[in-house]
Amino acid sequence: MISLQENPQTQPVPKLPDGPKTPKFLQTIRAIFWPLKYLEKTAREYGDIYTTEIAGFPPQVVLSNPQAIQEIFTADPKLFESGPGNKILQPFFGDYSLLLHDGEYHQRQRRLLTPPFHGERMKAYGELICDITDRVISNWQIGETFSARSSTQEISLRVILRAVFGIDEGDRYEQLKQRLTALLDVTGSPLRSSFVFLRWLQKDLGAWSPWGRFVRLKQQINELLLTEINERRQKNDLAGEDILSLMMSARDEEGQPMTDAELLDELMTLLFAGHETTATALAWALYWVHHIPEVRKKLMEELVTLGENPDPNAITKLPYLNAVCSETLRIYPVALFTFPRIVKAPVQIAGYQFEEGTMLSPCIYLTHHREDLYPEPKRFKPERFLERQFSPYEFFPFGGSNRRCIGMAFAMFEMKLVLAKILLRSQLALADNRPVVPERRGITMAPSGGVKLVLTGHRS
Ligand code: HEM
Repeated sequence: MISLQENPQTQPVPKLPDGPKTPKFLQTIRAIFWPLKYLEKTAREYGDIYTTEIAGFPPQVVLSNPQAIQEIFTADPKLFESGPGNKILQPFFGDYSLLLHDGEYHQRQRRLLTPPFHGERMKAYGELICDITDRVISNWQIGETFSARSSTQEISLRVILRAVFGIDEGDRYEQLKQRLTALLDVTGSPLRSSFVFLRWLQKDLGAWSPWGRFVRLKQQINELLLTEINERRQKNDLAGEDILSLMMSARDEEGQPMTDAELLDELMTLLFAGHETTATALAWALYWVHHIPEVRKKLMEELVTLGENPDPNAITKLPYLNAVCSETLRIYPVALFTFPRIVKAPVQIAGYQFEEGTMLSPCIYLTHHREDLYPEPKRFKPERFLERQFSPYEFFPFGGSNRRCIGMAFAMFEMKLVLAKILLRSQLALADNRPVVPERRGITMAPSGGVKLVLTGHRS
């Protein structure tokens, strides 16, 4: 691995770090279909700062050196932009999503959307998350095999619908749920994920073609959201605590409200980013807990100390539960990379001088698998999070700096409550004990097969 000492800061090197010379197209195919193997192989050969070439993007510098990542996360955010690097997300979220913007618009949207997912407002969702989990658990039948990921998706989708709209029942919400799930399934396998990365595949060849289906589902979702927006506007129903009310009441410096197009794209961003990731993380957590009996035993011992009907706040403070959730996000982070940081003005990072336009990509997966930080990195060992504290440049499943995930606290809160509730109420076993491996699901990495579980009994 390259260390900073080998790249003296005093003599910046004005060229890109070394990297594979394989043709661009081959590198792209490997990155889409075998991302983990490709990342590990390249890091073994070129160290923790190297350059890759992915079709449709400028050369990408992949970094898994904590000191270099610290330099990026603590630099003046104005030195970088992420919006143009997130262009592949445009078909999902639309032109106005904060993910595709930088500067003042991005900051304003973050200021507006962050508070509902933190502090007391977040805690107010505790009972709701537990109730929704109870409802989903009550659909499981003893002896029946079910997909953990489908169940966790049902939970996280209901939770985010509640947070965004203040309601998760009724015909419109059922339609929204069904179409959002179908939309995500269009890119829900390694092969179908290529639609996200290879723009030339994004051809609408009618309702039965994959992209045609995607376009129609997106249109239907927009129509459902627009009906909701118009209804609220007509009823002047903007006093609620939910996020849509908040967005509709917000005014910019000139006293202007958000346009319908802005509202639609931001709603889509929250609905998607707010449930797909958490559902995947929870499915992984259920897998690890049932795959490793000692982990399950230790976690149960900790959970039962809280008594019959534990208070949500007490659950979120449990140290081993926190370690299990952290280790879940370490070993297979839902996002392999943070958003790219595209250099806007020459900047020195880790002894390299990066010119305008260079795409810097902090790699969450490779950093989380460094032997020097996480001995035996392929082993699921929650204890490592009890034995030492990791810096935000060594452990960053939610990214960092001015782009850090706005749902970080909320996602950890939800993960802990759902996992605790499921384990306290039901006895589950993996339907088969073959190791589950990560596979691409759009831009995220999810457990292959969705983790099949069997309900073997009830606890309470
Ligand atoms: C386990 C669950 C989750 C994971 C692993 C995750 C991960 C991430 C990552 C890696 C980023 C990019 C950060 C960067 O580039 O530095 C991000 C951004 C973002 N996440 Fe999450 N996320 C999760 C849950 C959520 C939830 C629940 C919400 C909504 C409430 C959410 C909303 C967002 C938004 C809006 C951004 C864009 C922030 C910006 O551009 O400034 N995420 N997330």
